[in-house]
Amino acid sequence: MRSLVFLLLVAVASAKVFSKCEWAQLLKSNKMDGYRGISLANWVCLAEHESGFNTQAINHNKDGTTDYGIFQINSRWWCDNGSHTANGCNVKCSELQSDNVSVSINCAKRVVRDPNGIGAWVAWRKYCQNKDLSRYLAGCGL
Ligand SMILES: *[C@@H]1O[C@H](CO)[C@@H](O)[C@H](O)[C@H]1NC(C)=O
Ligand SMILES: *[C@@H]1O[C@H](CO)[C@@H](O)[C@H](O)[C@H]1NC(C)=O
Repeated sequence: MRSLVFLLLVAVASAKVFSKCEWAQLLKSNKMDGYRGISLANWVCLAEHESGFNTQAINHNKDGTTDYGIFQINSRWWCDNGSHTANGCNVKCSELQSDNVSVSINCAKRVVRDPNGIGAWVAWRKYCQNKDLSRYLAGCGL
């Protein structure tokens, strides 16, 4: 029993889930507000709908690709999962699930430098594009 409790604590400690405002602040300090003309609220909206601000989020797609981390970045183009992938961000896919979110943030910056910009994210097109995004920064004092 004691070891089970210990294991559960370890699992909880290594899965970082940010609050909305914590994440917004972190993005701001990583110079994401206005990056490529994309406002902070868009980035917060994107992460909320992709991962619920969970750094460990992982989803397997029907086409055999996998989405990793707080931004749900896809294995086909952006990271190395051990098979033949383009690895545009030059990282291991598992690093996108790290508590060190600079890996995911740097990779998201790389993704939006491509012609599709933030439109690369389905959840952004569906939930954030042309929407009122004021609630995503509400109460954050930013
Ligand atoms: C790695 O990613 C590629 C492209 O997303 C996918 O086709 C392949 O099945 C993946 N391999 C593993 C081991 O997950
Ligand atoms: C976090 O990741 C960044 C980018 O990969 C790296 O430069 C930095 O050293 C890492 N920080 C820690 C505390 O591991």
